[in-house]
Amino acid sequence: RLRVLSGIQPTADSFHLGNYLGALRQWVLLQDTHETYYMVVDLHAITVEQDPKVLRQRTRVSAAQLLALGVDPERSALFVQSHVPEHAQLSWVLECQTGFGEASRMTQFKDKAAKQGTDHASVGLFTYPILQAADILIYQANAVPVGEDQRQHLELSRNLAQRFNRRYGKTFTVPEPHIVKDTAKIFDLQDPTSKMSKSASSPNGLIELLEDPKRSAKKIRSAVTDTGRDIVFDPEEKAGVSNLLTIYSALDGRTVPELEAAYAGKGYGDLKKDLAEVLVEFVTPFQERVQSYLDDVAELDKVLAHGAERARAVAAETLALVYDRVGFLPPG
Ligand code: TYM
Repeated sequence: RLRVLSGIQPTADSFHLGNYLGALRQWVLLQDTHETYYMVVDLHAITVEQDPKVLRQRTRVSAAQLLALGVDPERSALFVQSHVPEHAQLSWVLECQTGFGEASRMTQFKDKAAKQGTDHASVGLFTYPILQAADILIYQANAVPVGEDQRQHLELSRNLAQRFNRRYGKTFTVPEPHIVKDTAKIFDLQDPTSKMSKSASSPNGLIELLEDPKRSAKKIRSAVTDTGRDIVFDPEEKAGVSNLLTIYSALDGRTVPELEAAYAGKGYGDLKKDLAEVLVEFVTPFQERVQSYLDDVAELDKVLAHGAERARAVAAETLALVYDRVGFLPPG
């Protein structure tokens, strides 16, 4: 079985619809066909300031959301990144294979550093994509399910794997991004030309999976649409309606052409009203499942400890090989 690895940051009170449709849905599906490793990336989270208590809580809530979305801890190793210290250890070795200029070209770093100012942006923010490469390469992952915004980081992971293999002999599997085109980028409901993100300029553009479903429904109903009135998928001319069709299709199972046919002659209001209902039907039972996982934190922590143990077995093996390849003396 081919291996899959992916991660998500515990940096918000809730995952959002972009996380789910862009990545997490694929995490769940790939369990049927692949050996899967999924983690909450708390090491990545501290590249920007975090309140320790809040971080700990969000890490558990993240794990509970993954379970509630269908990550099955029997089939997947579900764990917290800091529980597997080999990630940080491999990251150091990979940092020493990465050019300063190469790291400087990462657009997510450039965007975040520009927002924070270079004096405030941490060195961890700079080396973030190299830690991400370590996450992936340490499991010899063949595929990495992510949204479009992670493509450049994936390209760096591939480059580092190939470079290391050339320099030291075949050591790493070169990973492929698993980016599903239709849902690779879910857009902000208020500004449908920028991606849905937790740092959205208006909270009304963002659907959080754990917010009050009534609030989500209202956000859908007040989503920005376009002039005109036909419900057709046309991302260039009708970004708002096209985004709603993408979301609708992903949640409801009907294809975009089927939805276009179903809404021929109807108005934007009908589309939004129905999509709001579909969304509420999805998030309501999801929220109940999240709560039930959070009601038994001891059990949740046990699941994560078990996942970390499984992950460590693989990670330790790769790290030992890497340490040997680079010429470290084996400990006595
Ligand atoms: P993060 O936590 O920002 O996002 C988690 C996943 O959600 C996807 N995503 C989206 N997909 C479609 N439309 C959107 N609007 C949208 N917003 C977010 C992201 O692409 C991502 O797949 N660096 C990663 C975390 C990470 C990781 C890894 C991923 C750390 N190590 C190793 C894969 C492999 C991140 O910040 O994701």
